[in-house]
Amino acid sequence: MSQESQNAPRVLFEVKDENLDTGLRGYPVGTCRTSTVNATSGLAYAGYPITDLKDLRVSDVIFLLFNKRLPTKEEGETFRLEMSQREEVPDTIYEVLESLPKEGHPMEWFQVVLNYLGMVDKTGDYLEDALRLVARITTIVAAIFHVREDWGKPVHPCEGLPFQDNFVCMVGMPGSTPEFAELCRLFYILHMDHGGGNLSTFVGKAIASGKADIYSSMSGAMAALYGARHGRANQSALDFVKSIGTTDRTEVETRVRKILTDGGLVYGFGHAVLRVEDPRATIQYEFARKHYPDHPLVKTALALREVVPPILKENPNIQNPYPNVDAISGTLLTAAGLSNPEYYTMLFGWSRAVGIAAQIVDERTFPGKKDGLPICRPRYIAVDQTPRRLNG
Ligand code: MLT
Repeated sequence: MSQESQNAPRVLFEVKDENLDTGLRGYPVGTCRTSTVNATSGLAYAGYPITDLKDLRVSDVIFLLFNKRLPTKEEGETFRLEMSQREEVPDTIYEVLESLPKEGHPMEWFQVVLNYLGMVDKTGDYLEDALRLVARITTIVAAIFHVREDWGKPVHPCEGLPFQDNFVCMVGMPGSTPEFAELCRLFYILHMDHGGGNLSTFVGKAIASGKADIYSSMSGAMAALYGARHGRANQSALDFVKSIGTTDRTEVETRVRKILTDGGLVYGFGHAVLRVEDPRATIQYEFARKHYPDHPLVKTALALREVVPPILKENPNIQNPYPNVDAISGTLLTAAGLSNPEYYTMLFGWSRAVGIAAQIVDERTFPGKKDGLPICRPRYIAVDQTPRRLNG
């Protein structure tokens, strides 16, 4: 190969007409240092497969996403302490929450509070604001539960407790099962990041590219996550599991076939990038089997896991017939005692905020770019726009 061709820029993607109006699917638009999603091995954070990280302390995984390496024991302890010192939120947040309409979805409340927090809390430093936001979000999410559900006055952060016990203590949900705290830890770690191109992360980074602060960027990212095709899919997937209404494998198969013949959708299966069962689903199926094997929804979800892929494979157009993260997460939360699915997307956002914040910091402090990466400005091809004038 000549020197010239060795130095030629690599062609990563060829944009053809057929690629327009496809939601940028597969277009390489940048680089990501926090995580990657491989079609066959699934999600890895900074090189570590998610299966290796699932049992770690939450603060160590946050450290990993921000620093691209795991902390030493000492660093981990210091970081955990520093994050817990950032958890307290301004008291006026509770007044804002009290003023919001209960008809609003928890995700709409979440967006409002993030914007409000930006008004009273930002320092203007992307890293410090990102860490504050990540730490304070746990307190905010707990407060949203309290105010909406009338679970009494919100509890302030309980110092000294492990992350998940602090969260469960602040949420104070009546009727939670003993495994709820462990499930929250697992759910949080599994949902933190999913490459650079998932909609909420992409949107958050795009907003920040105009140099908006991290709070407004995160609020916009959460608006993206709220959509039924993205974060709200966990709510729809649970409705789907419930609609099956039986735990009998043969009956489950009959019902899935009928849904598909009637033109209905099977929720919780398939993924834009993955071509195997999502390892985040596999980990949650294991948790469900271990802790809630007799819960009827868990039994249905496990039957669907076996029944749906072979049926979907009968359609040659379906590239991935396997369960994704949403196939079981809502079922698990229900089994653990959180039976109102309206909150599931907010919990997704609670966790995803970590990856979004870390990626925004990476782009705003990009090596060699004094002002961070440039403002996003893709090109749209004009169509159906015959040139014309008002007069003549
Ligand atoms: C996610 O975790 O964000 C979802 O799997 C969606 C995606 O990766 O596009």
